[in-house]
Amino acid sequence: MNQVVLEMNNIDKSFGGTHALKGINFELRKGEVHALLGENGAGKSTLIKVLSGIHQPNSGTIRIEGKEILMDSVQAAQSHGIGTIHQEIVLVPHLTVAENIFLGREITNKFGFKDLNSINKRAAEMVASLGLDIDVLKKVSELTIAQQQMVEIVKAISFNVKILVMDEPTSSLSDEEVNKLFETMERLKKNDVSIIYISHRMEELFRITDRVTVIRDGTYVGTVDTAKTNPDELVAMMVGRSLENYYIRTYSVQEEEVLRVEHLSKMNVFEDISFTVHKGEIVGFAGLVGAGRSEIMSAIFGADSYDSGKVFLSGEEVRFKNCKQAIENGIAMVPEDRKLQGLTLINSVEFNASLAALKFMMNGLLISSQKKSEIVQKYIKDLRIKTASADIAVSSLSGGNQQKVVLAKWLATKPKLLILDEPTRGVDVGAKSEIYAIINELAKNGMAIIMISSELPEIINMCDSVNVIRAGKLAGSIGAEELTQENIMKYATGGVK
Ligand SMILES: Nc1ncnc2c1ncn2[C@@H]1O[C@H](COP(=O)(O)OP(=O)(O)OP(=O)(O)O)[C@@H](O)[C@H]1O
Ligand SMILES: [Mg+2]
Repeated sequence: MNQVVLEMNNIDKSFGGTHALKGINFELRKGEVHALLGENGAGKSTLIKVLSGIHQPNSGTIRIEGKEILMDSVQAAQSHGIGTIHQEIVLVPHLTVAENIFLGREITNKFGFKDLNSINKRAAEMVASLGLDIDVLKKVSELTIAQQQMVEIVKAISFNVKILVMDEPTSSLSDEEVNKLFETMERLKKNDVSIIYISHRMEELFRITDRVTVIRDGTYVGTVDTAKTNPDELVAMMVGRSLENYYIRTYSVQEEEVLRVEHLSKMNVFEDISFTVHKGEIVGFAGLVGAGRSEIMSAIFGADSYDSGKVFLSGEEVRFKNCKQAIENGIAMVPEDRKLQGLTLINSVEFNASLAALKFMMNGLLISSQKKSEIVQKYIKDLRIKTASADIAVSSLSGGNQQKVVLAKWLATKPKLLILDEPTRGVDVGAKSEIYAIINELAKNGMAIIMISSELPEIINMCDSVNVIRAGKLAGSIGAEELTQENIMKYATGGVK
């Protein structure tokens, strides 16, 4: 068990003026699950991109089973048995699941043509062996994000890997899917596969990992045995201080109603949904992934339609045909999938952050670049967005910092109703508590907030009341006094009627 399969020594990497990795050390033993932990922008993804041949380090060495290896291409990494699941999904949307799994190494028949039958059959076997229910003939674009993430995993382990790198594989998975993934990881471990595991969900590290290496600001902090540490110690290593007041919530619910939804229904998607949100109130929406929470909010926001029911904004009936109308009427929605709906990755931080709020940046009829820059700088500072400047492309930010740019974009519209769909997905513990403080402050200043979240601790600690959605229906509404994990799960899974 103690045999070292991988050693990374003194790895240094700069991107222009950004010194992302400053002499990082990392050691991986045979058959272990080793977590890489650090704040957003600490350098985790960069380190594994160096390992998987995507980035070339400025200096440092990589040894596999004692031998120094030049990891100068993705193919080189694959040929040394390194499989990587990257943080951002890189599947080709218009190809089928099976085609994606075999992309770049198509099975051919004896005439040298692509053998689709074999590809489909092999892919179906692999999917089934993980206990997944995904049709391999479907196009990737037709899958949910969670399913796409599972396909990434199938693809990575299908290469007969010795070292499997998983960069936030669970960020959009439900509990049940996480369990399946962990079972798969246990199986791989037994076959002596070594796993590097990146996640911001602390409880997962204690369930699945053997050791944890912490990096902060591109530097190596230390490596500890999971069994001999605890969350507080890890957080202190990560952020260099301990976090008190993790959740900050001041009661601020006012009498004035901002949103009232009555009997909202859409065939086969959601049915008979009614609730209200007041000024200064945070209303949570819990439920299993796929229960219909995002769909309900999309319908209210005008991004989607509904068949029947009524929506009242500040007492007046509204029905938005598109998001633009909703935004003009003071609603903002931070979407679940930042890549598809939230950001244009090739554009700058400033472009993205200011896009939805240009009306606050006008000087007469023109956009004032000074006002724009002031507002954007304010959010970079308030949300502690880690970026070299406001002008660089969002694609070069770390995943969690991209999430903060999405938040900035919508906060800048100064909405009266803010809908947050999984607001802290992929965000580190330090930044999470900053985001909670910001949400609390917004509510205190009278904003009405809807928060969809799969993280129960976050829902319980931040919300004044919680609606639980199960299979498109309102399974229960829970007031502050009864807000417990057990109560939410009971409604979410149908444990009570
Ligand atoms: N291609 C790139 N060009 C320029 N800078 C980059 C690039 N990739 C990463 N960086 C910078 O390197 C630093 C480390 O980023 P990295 O993506 O490794 O962080 P991370 O630890 O994975 O964070 P997260 O938890 O948010 O995913 C950040 O400051 C980031 O902006
Ligand atoms: Mg990352």
